[in-house]
This record gives sequence, C-alpha cells and structure tokens, in this order.
Amino acid sequence: MSSFKILALWYSQTGQLHQIITHFLQPLTETNSIDIDIVEYKPAIPYPFPWSSQEFFNTMPESVLLTPTPLAPLNFAHSSYDLIVLAYQPWYLSPSIPANSLFHTPEFLHIIRNTPVITLIGSRNMWINSQEIIKKQLHTAGANLIGNIAFSDKHQNQISAITIVHWMLSGRKDKKYGIFPLPGISTSDIQQASEYGTVLHTAIQSQSLQGIQSKFLALGYMNIPLDVQFIEERAKRLFTVWAQLITKFGSSLQGRKRLVTTFKWYLIIALFIVAPIVFFFYFFLFYPFTYKAVNKKKQIYLQ
Ligand SMILES: Cc1cc2nc3c(=O)[nH]c(=O)nc-3n(C[C@H](O)[C@H](O)[C@H](O)COP(=O)(O)O)c2cc1C
Repeated sequence: MSSFKILALWYSQTGQLHQIITHFLQPLTETNSIDIDIVEYKPAIPYPFPWSSQEFFNTMPESVLLTPTPLAPLNFAHSSYDLIVLAYQPWYLSPSIPANSLFHTPEFLHIIRNTPVITLIGSRNMWINSQEIIKKQLHTAGANLIGNIAFSDKHQNQISAITIVHWMLSGRKDKKYGIFPLPGISTSDIQQASEYGTVLHTAIQSQSLQGIQSKFLALGYMNIPLDVQFIEERAKRLFTVWAQLITKFGSSLQGRKRLVTTFKWYLIIALFIVAPIVFFFYFFLFYPFTYKAVNKKKQIYLQ
C-alpha cells in the first residue's frame, strides 16, 4: 500500500509556529504509512526580528492590502500530496506577508490544487479576519479546506498586546518588568497540538478526513472571546482605510514614516482606550439583544 503523503508548510520568526507544527505532526510520525514532507517557506529577504518599532508598524499597509513579497525557492519532495497542512500567523488581522505570498507562488498554487488542506494558526488572539482571507484564497486556488486549528495567547486582550509587542521589539520572550505574564501561546497550549495530531492520525487511518473539524472542535480547546470577536468584526475596515491612506500619501520616505507613526498612536489609543469603553457599552446595551446572532457567527468562524 502506498503511503499517505502530507506536506506541512510553516514560517516562523520566533520559532513558536514551528513548535506548534512539530507537536501537531508528532503523532503522525510514529507510523511508516504516513510520509511527511516538512517545508519552511520564508521571504527571500527576511523580516527583521527583533523588530524596530518603526519596522513593526510599517508592515501594516502591505499586510492589510495583501501585497506579496518574493519567497525563497520552495522545494517539494513529491508532485502531489494527500493532505497539506498550512501553518501561518496573522499580521494586522491579515495573513502574514510570507503566508499571503504563497498564494502568488506558482509551485504552491500547483501543489495545493484539488488537495485537502488543514490550516494551523499561531496568533496573539485575532485570527478571524486572516482566516476568512485564507479561506477565499484556498477556494480560488481550487484547494479544499477541511480543518482549521487556531492557537492563541489566552491572556486578556490588552495584556497580551503589551507582552507580544515587548517580545517582538526586544526579541526576548520574558516577563515585561518582571510582572507581566510570558508573551505568546502558553507551553501547555503548544503541547496540546499533539492531541489534534492524534485526531488527524485516527482520521487518516480510518480514511475519514471529511468532518475532521468537528473532531478538532470536540477537543474543546478552541474558543473566541467576545471582546476579541467584537474588535475583529470592526477593526479590519479601519485598518484598510489606514493602509490605503499610508500607501497613497506616504510616497516619500519621510511622509510614510510620519503616517506610520500616526497610525501607531491611533492603534494604541484605539486598543487601550476606545475599544474597552465601546465594548463596555456594547456588552450592556446591545449584546443582550444580539447574543444569539453573535454566537452563531462565532460558530461559523470556528467551523
Ligand atoms: C507585524 C506583526 C503583526 C501581528 N499582528 C497580529 C494580529 O493582527 N493578530 C494576532 O493575533 N497576532 C498578530 N501578531 C502575532 C503573530 O500572529 C504571531 O503570533 C507572532 O508573531 C509569533 O509568531 P511566529 O511563529 O511567526 O514567531 C503579529 C505579529 C507581527 C510580527
């Protein structure tokens, strides 16, 4: 019997998403009947890590407007696969620029056609918008999305924003001022990826990949906090306006720098002052009347 071929694609600056995909694939490596080709995709010119503040906020327009960057050559061991695992991270409520760039790469578009795909996301906590984009891109590429597993930092939204920016700008995954929690996805959550891998392994053995998302969800680990859903459903439009503004009026280096700095302060005020106030009123005045529709939407995102 020929082996079941999996292509696992990943990109990671800090190694976090690499850890997640490694744990995920671990149960699948224990059998000879599954052949796994693990391929790192990365930009031809790497993004900086740690980031400077300017560089970090400067990637917003191209992330949001889905502007691709050239990737380093991709080499696949086989000409087709039975399943593709696509691991990616959101940048500014959009797929990271390297992940989006895959969809502009002929080798990737060729390999993904007519193939079942499972997406694996390593986010801070906002992955809904980026996954909606990836869903469309996969559909356009003729791929068949059968599952999505999203990992998030489960700390409160504003706390995780502070800690991730500390991590991204310092390169250190430690406790900011010694008092904040560790940035990123917790070690125990990363290790849980192997439980999803076991679910996949069982599905492959019983040749029943369809319906796998319900089995992933049945593990009970995936959730979308209400405040995160509230922000995601509103913020993307604002990001798009900012992205268009910066690319239109930031044609000179200095002009763009000034606009990006203004966006940075806008984001800080929006996230730490405006969003909590607006969410407070929304929660008490509107949510009681709309919670059924909101929860229905949440189930759609999770499915
Ligand atoms: C420029 C940039 C923008 C980001 N924007 C988001 C975002 O919109 N939503 C989110 O949940 N995480 C966001 N993150 C966090 C990443 O999704 C990811 O969790 C983190 O960068 C670590 O991933 P790594 O495996 O690539 O190192 C962002 C990170 C970077 C560097």
